[in-house]
Order: sequence, then structure tokens, then C-alpha cells
Amino acid sequence: MQNASKEKIWFLGRGFEEYLLMFKLNLPDLAHCHILDCNAGASSFTAEMNHKGYDVIAADILYGQSAEKMENISENDFLTLMNAHKDLKNEEDWGFFENHDHMIQYRIKSYNKFFEHYKTGKDAFYIESKLPKLPFRNNSFHLVLSSHLLFLYDDRLDYNFHLQSVKEMIRVSSQEVRIYPLVRLRSNRKSKFVDSLIRDLSPNYHTEIQKVDYRFREGADEMLRIQKTSGDQSRCGLISTDMIKIEGK
Ligand SMILES: C[S@@+](CC[C@H](N)C(=O)[O-])C[C@H]1O[C@@H](n2cnc3c(N)ncnc32)[C@H](O)[C@@H]1O
Repeated sequence: MQNASKEKIWFLGRGFEEYLLMFKLNLPDLAHCHILDCNAGASSFTAEMNHKGYDVIAADILYGQSAEKMENISENDFLTLMNAHKDLKNEEDWGFFENHDHMIQYRIKSYNKFFEHYKTGKDAFYIESKLPKLPFRNNSFHLVLSSHLLFLYDDRLDYNFHLQSVKEMIRVSSQEVRIYPLVRLRSNRKSKFVDSLIRDLSPNYHTEIQKVDYRFREGADEMLRIQKTSGDQSRCGLISTDMIKIEGK
């Protein structure tokens, strides 16, 4: 089993309901949206959204491998992480989950949904790609989501990686990019890259930090929304009236 190494980026995956809360998504708004889940890992979001008739593609550095190989990586990462967290088992507040066992059962269920979909839909829905580059044309998706990579791993991914990755997500989106969470790994403090990124993007984009209802890690109750404003791009039903301008604009 792999050690909980400082350098590692875990191949894990949150479930569909967690995504709705983390990104404040309202399903009826998404009926006409083409969505990219970046660094999607073993999340079941793409699988479940497509089963419900929505249009979602996933991208991750590890896609392209066989389902069996990825299943080994994710099982290994999940067990290692659970082992590292075993002292927390009797914690009272599990946020989104009822308790420790609920979290394990929920995650196993959502991994299974991901792997089932990956086995049959690998080429159509799961695109191998290594940030800070994405293999898509400009404005390919209305909405681009990214969770549990940027900001979280700011001790091993430098600011330039963050800036280039977010610019790339903006390039392939016609409407909006959402990033969650804003806190650092093993901390309830916001990454210092959040403010720098907002400052660097503010001349060209609307940005907003918005509270979300998802609760799991302490302090991880905010996402960053970055909205493109050019009028000539196709738009889907995402609500954007609450977007605000930030200083410097
Ligand atoms: C902690 S998982 C998060 C998965 C999912 N977004 C979620 O929230 O459940 C981080 C993911 O980022 C992927 N990743 C790491 N570096 C990457 C890179 N440079 N480009 C694309 N994906 C990367 C990993 O393979 C892993 O699947």
C-alpha cells in the first residue's frame, strides 16, 4: 500500500450529490449546458449526470488507462486515506455524511458508478488530459468545474500552474468556470493563491467567491466563480445575475 506521501495527489472521487452542493448546481438550469468536469478523478458526477440525460464530459491526467488499473489506484488511495483518518472515526460532525460508515458506503457506491460508466464510456466521456493544458477548442463547454485540485494542493502545485490551468479552463468555457474548495490541504485556511488569482483575472473576468451548502472539511464552504462576459458566445441556462465586480475592475 502506498504511503500518505506529501507529494501525492489522490485519485479519489466525490459523488453526484456532493457535486451539486459543492458547485451550487441547480439541475433544471443545466438542461442545455455542455459541462466539463476537470480533474474529475473517480467522481461519479459524469456518470450520473449522463444517466439522467445531461451533457457532461470528464477530464483527468489518469484517464486513458484500463478500468482495472484505475480501480487499483483508486482503491489503494481510498484505503490509504481511510487508514490515515481512522482516528477521526468517532468524530461527531460528519457534515454532508451521517457518520464515518455512511461516508465509506456512499463513496464506495459512487466509485462503483464511476467505474461502471468508465468501462463502457471511456472513449466518449473520459478524456485523458494534463493540466495546465486541455485538449479542447475555445468555448467548447458552457460550464467548467474543477474540484479538489487547485488551491487544495498549493504546497505542490505552484502559482503559475494555478494561473495557467485556470486560464485554460476559461479558454475552453464559453460562460463560466467554478472551482471548489478554496482551502489548503489539512487546513481550514484559504489558499493564498485565491486572492492572487482573482487579482490577475479581474481585468478581464467577473469573479465571485460564493458560499456553498456542502459541508465536510472545516472552512471548505466557498467556491470561486469566474464568468466570461463576451456577448457573442453561446449561453446556457446558468444564472449569473448575482455576479459582482471585484476591486480593480
Ligand atoms: C483529489 S482528486 C479530485 C477528484 C474529483 N474532482 C473530486 O472532487 O472528487 C484530484 C484529481 O486530480 C487529478 N490530477 C492531478 N494532477 C492533474 C493534472 N496536472 N491534470 C489533470 N488532472 C490532474 C488526479 O488524477 C485526481 O484524479
